[in-house]
Amino acid sequence: MTHRIQTALIAIVAAASTVAAGLAQAPGANTYRTKCAMCHAADGSGNMPAGKATATPSFKFPVMLKMSDADFIGYTKNGKGKMPAYSSKLTETEIKDVVGYIRTLQRK
Ligand code: HEC
Repeated sequence: MTHRIQTALIAIVAAASTVAAGLAQAPGANTYRTKCAMCHAADGSGNMPAGKATATPSFKFPVMLKMSDADFIGYTKNGKGKMPAYSSKLTETEIKDVVGYIRTLQRK
């Protein structure tokens, strides 16, 4: 009996950590880390050498919080100022996912 409860508890803990790992791996997170974080920084602040050199703004600036997903998707596809264009480097889905990931950084 005790053994069964133990087994059940282990199963619950294992399931919970799988869910947590899934959340940490939000779609877009990997694209952001490999293609955007060198300028925008892991937290979206732009606080990186390449971010400072290109005057990359923080995603938490009020003007950024007001921009729509369509605005963000457009800038990611077409670039803006020193920001490179990604329309030929990322798929439509990858761009949508990375913008979704930026939204999670804005809420942190
Ligand atoms: C070489 C540095 C650099 C890289 C790499 C980079 N960005 Fe940017 N990004 C910038 C700069 C600089 C701006 C500000 C552009 C401006 O307003 O003139 C910017 C702005 C933006 C904006 C907001 C547009 C605005 O009004 O400022 C979005 C959205 C964005 N970047 C998304 C991304 C995504 C997604 C990636 C990765 C796929 C990425 N960026 C990679 C430098 C970079």
